[in-house]
Amino acid sequence: MTVTVEERLRYPQLADKIMTAAEAASFIKDGMTLGLSGFTRAGDAKAVPHALVERAKTENFKVDVYTGASLGSDTDALMSDAGIVRKRLPFQVDRTMRSHINKGDLYFVDQHLSVTAEYLRQGSIKGVDVAIVEATAITEDGLLIPTTSVGNSPIFIQDADKVIIELNLASYPELEGIHDIYIPEPQGERQPIPIIHSADRIGQKGIPLDMDKVIAVVVTDLEDSPSLIVPPDEETQQMANYLLDFFRDEVKAGRLTNKLAPLQSGIGSVANAVLAGMVDSEFEDLEVFSEVLQDAVFDLIDAGKVKTASCCSITLSKEKMESVFHHLDKYADKLVLRPQEISNNPEVIRRMGLICMNTALEFDIYGNVNSTHVLGTKMMNGIGGSGDFARAGRISIFVTKSTAKDGKISSIVPFVSHVDHSEHDVDVVVTEQGIADLRGLAPRERAELIIENCAHPKYKSALRAYFEEAKTHGGQTPHILEKAFSFHTNFAKYGTMLSPEEN
Ligand code: COA
Repeated sequence: MTVTVEERLRYPQLADKIMTAAEAASFIKDGMTLGLSGFTRAGDAKAVPHALVERAKTENFKVDVYTGASLGSDTDALMSDAGIVRKRLPFQVDRTMRSHINKGDLYFVDQHLSVTAEYLRQGSIKGVDVAIVEATAITEDGLLIPTTSVGNSPIFIQDADKVIIELNLASYPELEGIHDIYIPEPQGERQPIPIIHSADRIGQKGIPLDMDKVIAVVVTDLEDSPSLIVPPDEETQQMANYLLDFFRDEVKAGRLTNKLAPLQSGIGSVANAVLAGMVDSEFEDLEVFSEVLQDAVFDLIDAGKVKTASCCSITLSKEKMESVFHHLDKYADKLVLRPQEISNNPEVIRRMGLICMNTALEFDIYGNVNSTHVLGTKMMNGIGGSGDFARAGRISIFVTKSTAKDGKISSIVPFVSHVDHSEHDVDVVVTEQGIADLRGLAPRERAELIIENCAHPKYKSALRAYFEEAKTHGGQTPHILEKAFSFHTNFAKYGTMLSPEEN
């Protein structure tokens, strides 16, 4: 692909703003708040954040960093190791940054991904000083065409005092036309968001730029980091099979048809395995309305199973990147990339009646879900969009393997050590042991089913013993408070969630 800067920078007045990443980074001062493009490693600002890290070798400064979601190119690792991040929101997935967060080296605000834009619009969090946004092109009429994600870029650009554009010549020009940028009015003055079907286009093809704010254009050719998707193993395949059978039962019961309902799937191997399992299934004419599109959605489009897919980022494995981005024309009429406040908008999710599939770290015998905090205190990644979808969806499903760390941890516990999704937002839970449909069940009925169907055999009797003893204390949701975290305290003491007597 040979492209010239002129082909991409079609707003000639910006030509005199072209400079190096280091020059652009020099505009960033200590104490500023940056709004970076990027969502699940896709479409992230790359060159300027890396130049900032370089600057930190000779200068002490700290900035607050807002993004869409996770960044690629090791940017979070490099920034946190350099000690330049004071506060980070709303999501990250980086091992190094996670360890700095858990040591207390920086503040992390773990936020529903649809709400950052609302907070900025309300002025209830610190505003953005500089937005740094990756672009495929700037059009003649002054629209910024994003690359492989939209994320929070529209609100960052709107809210920021200054804008730095990373014009990425390695991104595919065919991306132009795939985005749909709709920016809602402030709350209180807002009209309904007019999306009825996943492919509905309601906005503009790019983000309107106020040219007076643009202080730099940095030309780059840096590719997105590929997704780290792990192929299905026996257990994830088993979970996918339970879910496919669950959908078949919904069809038999007349609650769904073979078209199912628009599908949302969180990132990860189970979600990918479920979607992959649909390639050879009877389900057809499917709609996807999700946050991230992973490899399997494109296999489903290729198989003629998925009609349309809406998202706010496309995150693919290396091989899939080549096959999808080199043939974008094949997918263009089926794909829509939106801002995350629209892809994850509870108003739209409830109206469309989504089937939402997300991953838990642990859930408890009553169906409360912890997606974020390892053993109650240590941040893993963040809640991401899972809460946006779980609360508003038609069927809210959580999946997890029944054990972690070679069986020393049970993912089903008496009481979750941190609550991200309360029992009220959780309809179905699935492990490789089985599935529990919790809809319409009272807490005591839920506990019976979860322990019976989802717990690993090694932990079943300890969970049952807890539940039986708790029932002797009475209550709508029986608990023995001094033993509610016994699984977690056992792990801290013995390195396994069972006490020596139970083992
Ligand atoms: N207690 C402690 N650690 C646990 C655990 C538990 N109950 N369950 C899993 N883990 C550990 C695993 O051992 C693994 O550790 P490692 O990285 O040291 O190997 C790690 O957590 C990840 O688990 P894995 O089984 O590989 O799952 P995953 O990659 O599918 O990630 C989540 C699972 C929950 C961390 C991930 O899905 C997430 O961040 N979810 C929240 C955000 C979200 O849902 N986003 C999508 C919304 S659209």
